[in-house]
Amino acid sequence: MDISGVITARKALFDEYLDRYLGEARTASGIFEAFAYSLQAGGKRIRPVLAMLACEAAGGGAAHALPAGLAVEMIHTFSLIHDDLPALDNDDLRRGRPTCHRRFGEATAILAGDALIFQALSVLCAAPYPAQVKVDLCTFLAEVCGTNGLVQGEHEDVMAEGRDVPLDTIEGIYGRKTSRLFEFCLYAGARVACEDAALTRALALYGTHLGHAFQAIDDILDVTSDSRTLGKSAGKDIAQSKATVVKVLGLDGARSWAQNATDRAVQALDGIGGQGTHTLREIARWMLERAM
Ligand code: IPE
Ligand code: IPE
Ligand code: MG
Ligand code: MG
Ligand code: MG
Repeated sequence: MDISGVITARKALFDEYLDRYLGEARTASGIFEAFAYSLQAGGKRIRPVLAMLACEAAGGGAAHALPAGLAVEMIHTFSLIHDDLPALDNDDLRRGRPTCHRRFGEATAILAGDALIFQALSVLCAAPYPAQVKVDLCTFLAEVCGTNGLVQGEHEDVMAEGRDVPLDTIEGIYGRKTSRLFEFCLYAGARVACEDAALTRALALYGTHLGHAFQAIDDILDVTSDSRTLGKSAGKDIAQSKATVVKVLGLDGARSWAQNATDRAVQALDGIGGQGTHTLREIARWMLERAM
């Protein structure tokens, strides 16, 4: 199977949908300009792609997951805009462009990030899903982003800077700042396609482990790659003494750690058949080898 072809096709579908959404939602506000700048800067779109693949694995069509995927990409982009702020990671480069606060100023960047959260909810509420599905999506999205998820994880990440933190603390940080949104992507893709709770749970668990591997690879690439390839400043984690698996285990140890998380992701799919889960197994292995 040509896994990069599978990903490219889903990404193209998503980018077209995003462009259409932004074309229809456009207003003359500076906030809109700032968040459209960050949303359209590029990015791998791995989260909406995963939502689409989960939807397909659960028997739906990829396009059915597009509103859920758009909501996720908005939340992810909010998290990047805020992650880059001087008070957090203080980054100048994102997705190959000056960061949102560098381009528009801090006040606009903070508010553009805030606006993306509410736009994401608005996209979910307007989606052509049954009312109960929309309630479930909004409920779970709030759960994975709040004090048990992304925002909490980002706070722990910043608070852990410069400290000696054990591996299990780092796993907790990864779990909250990154994996929970991955968990949501898989959950959402499955939830919009089926009523099978066991299948949805298995796919969400795959997302959790995949998120751990994804963050470990991000931390490895911060050391081994360069800013031009990544589209963001490389070498910052060591400079800021970030709590990463690379810091604790070294590069080889971090690679084995990411491999183990990937194995656990693939194992979560045991017992689920079909071409869709085959694709998810392939993408998990492909993500280990990613160069950006
Ligand atoms: C970066 O995410 C933040 C992490 C959770 C590591 P991505 O690597 O998915 O960033 P984009 O969307 O491709 O820019
Ligand atoms: C944080 O990880 C990811 C989130 C935005 C939740 P990083 O701080 O390592 O992400 P990058 O490297 O800036 O993309
Ligand atoms: Mg960060
Ligand atoms: Mg960062
Ligand atoms: Mg990083």
